[in-house]
Amino acid sequence: MAQSGKMVLPEEQVFYPPERFVRQANVKSREIYAKAQASPELFWALQAERLEWFRKWDKVLEWEPPFARWFVNAKLNVCYNCVDRHLKTWRRNKAALLFEGEPGDKQVYTYWDLYQEVGRLAAALQRLGVKKGDRVAIYLPMIPQLPIAMLACARIGAPHLVIFGGFSAEALRDRINDAGAKVLITADGGWRRGKVVPLLRNARLALDATPSVEKVVVVQRVGQEMELLSPTECWYHELLEEETPCPPEEMDSEDMLFILYTSGTTGRPKGVVHTSGGYLVGVTTTLHMTFDLKDEDVYWCTADCGWITGHSYLVYGPLANGATVLLYEGAPDWPRPDRFWQIIERYGVTIFYTAPTAIRAFMRWGEQWLDGRNLSSLRLLGTVGEPINPEAWLWFYQYVGQGRCPVVDTWWQTETGMHIIAALPGITPLKPGSATVPLPGLKVEVVDKEGNPVPPGQDGLLVLKEPWPAMMRTVYGDEERYVQEYWSRFPGKWYYFAGDGARKDNHHYLWILGRVDDVVNVAGHRMSTMELESALVEHPTVAEAAVIGKPHEIKGQAIVAFVTLKDEIFAAIKRGEWSWRETEDELKAHVTVKIGAIARPDNIYFTAELPKTRSGKIMRRLLRAIAEGKILGDISTLANPEVIAELKRRYGDQEV
Ligand code: PRX
Repeated sequence: MAQSGKMVLPEEQVFYPPERFVRQANVKSREIYAKAQASPELFWALQAERLEWFRKWDKVLEWEPPFARWFVNAKLNVCYNCVDRHLKTWRRNKAALLFEGEPGDKQVYTYWDLYQEVGRLAAALQRLGVKKGDRVAIYLPMIPQLPIAMLACARIGAPHLVIFGGFSAEALRDRINDAGAKVLITADGGWRRGKVVPLLRNARLALDATPSVEKVVVVQRVGQEMELLSPTECWYHELLEEETPCPPEEMDSEDMLFILYTSGTTGRPKGVVHTSGGYLVGVTTTLHMTFDLKDEDVYWCTADCGWITGHSYLVYGPLANGATVLLYEGAPDWPRPDRFWQIIERYGVTIFYTAPTAIRAFMRWGEQWLDGRNLSSLRLLGTVGEPINPEAWLWFYQYVGQGRCPVVDTWWQTETGMHIIAALPGITPLKPGSATVPLPGLKVEVVDKEGNPVPPGQDGLLVLKEPWPAMMRTVYGDEERYVQEYWSRFPGKWYYFAGDGARKDNHHYLWILGRVDDVVNVAGHRMSTMELESALVEHPTVAEAAVIGKPHEIKGQAIVAFVTLKDEIFAAIKRGEWSWRETEDELKAHVTVKIGAIARPDNIYFTAELPKTRSGKIMRRLLRAIAEGKILGDISTLANPEVIAELKRRYGDQEV
């Protein structure tokens, strides 16, 4: 970006909080950092006063690395904190959820309405035999019944696992089986770009091999004529008819609230376990601080409840704060690319939290879609999910925020449960492209391979050096994996390894550089290359596969697969009985069936061999370099250098 003839690096551009914003901000003084640093436990104990506890804690933190217990022996109920306690205040009749379906249908739930439906569903689940500790799977579109189902589970102490509606039947089945879910809550379908997403059909396919599931509760959403097929299935609306709200269970602070599956470095997704007290304190506090949330706000987070953002900052954080939350079911460009701006205008949205991939798509669709839209209600913008490029940040700031709204870039993960690195918008100067600095009470560092801090300007690995309240507690059913993947990277040091590369600048601002492990981030969706590779090799034509993420203008990264086919298939193609194109299409469809449309590779390149080291390890670094047209660097460890020329040729062939 040129300024008086000089190139300005993004990290030199600084946006100070506007005076208007500072005057009314929830956090106005930098003292909060010093106070929290002086005694993080005292800081978190003070924050915990935001909630209503049935019994207070004996101790704030018990830390036996890498296992933490927060608010030891305290008792609470998360649903009670998100719903019931607001009924005792003027918020009883405040809008809790504003819902807009993709076809344009609208619904408002006050806190009282929410209490009624959550309480009745909770009672119904109990009647179906769900007890404290039983797991409930939720596979729903973004309709009010999704947060309602989550809260109903929390009310009776049944950990939920929400499975994103875009996942396939197989992905759903694997997650249900890993968690041993007793009940599945789903819908006849959901709306996406004018089409029905056939959730019940997928669920039925999945349920062929899920022995733990005893009941399936079906919400009628799309109104398709669909008969229930077995006594295991029941309609949600019929189930609730006879019920009255049940009381909330008293839960221990460390009782499990939910499991959420995410991708790691191996082929198998892992169930990240979050508990009750620390999690709710963490998300309630951070939302209040980072987004300056107020009672008057209309808060819209565009994430799906199938991801952690939907859990922490669409359901639990906002409702515990007594906020008005907007929920939209469908796509941003349906029926036209101005749907989001229409919604902001219609509901007077004040805080808008979305992902860089969406912002880049808006940029491509063009500013003209914002013309004539009144976005003056907006006062704060947020982003999450992947590094935001300064151009997208500036576009968001200028065109959506109209130069008036702070853009708060929030770095965090499924595992961290809550924001970790983010600005406090009333006091933190912003730099486009940087998530800025760690929140109060958190110790984040950029370190080298040995775990020593690296000087400013140098790339390193991002770690958290101290526990935090909303941290994951374990991997469901696999404690060893929890210890190995997150806490064993730096022997002798109990540092949480986030899997991201980062750099600090001279002002201690953090710049996230993306994943340093085998995880790709496609449109803010996290997937492991191993998971994608195992899906590919399960196809009968494939001998071997290597998957990489390639930079993509809109999605951040795109999935590119390099595949070697079995000899007989290769021979059949040579004989003209089958074509490359057909094979490619079939493999793409196969991955969609195995995981879901989000995992469909953008490109598949066929090759006779993959580049490997002498010990047989696939050199993904070389594949990335080839895909990006970059210089290959050192190839001395390559066992089969001749394959490079072939790959380059093939890549070139198919690119044109
Ligand atoms: O690589 C980081 C990226 O997303 C990863 C976490 O993905 P997930 O667990 O699916 O959670 C996404 C929503 C919290 C991180 O390891 N990431 C997330 N937010 C940012 C980010 N990268 C850069 N900047 C961010 N603000």
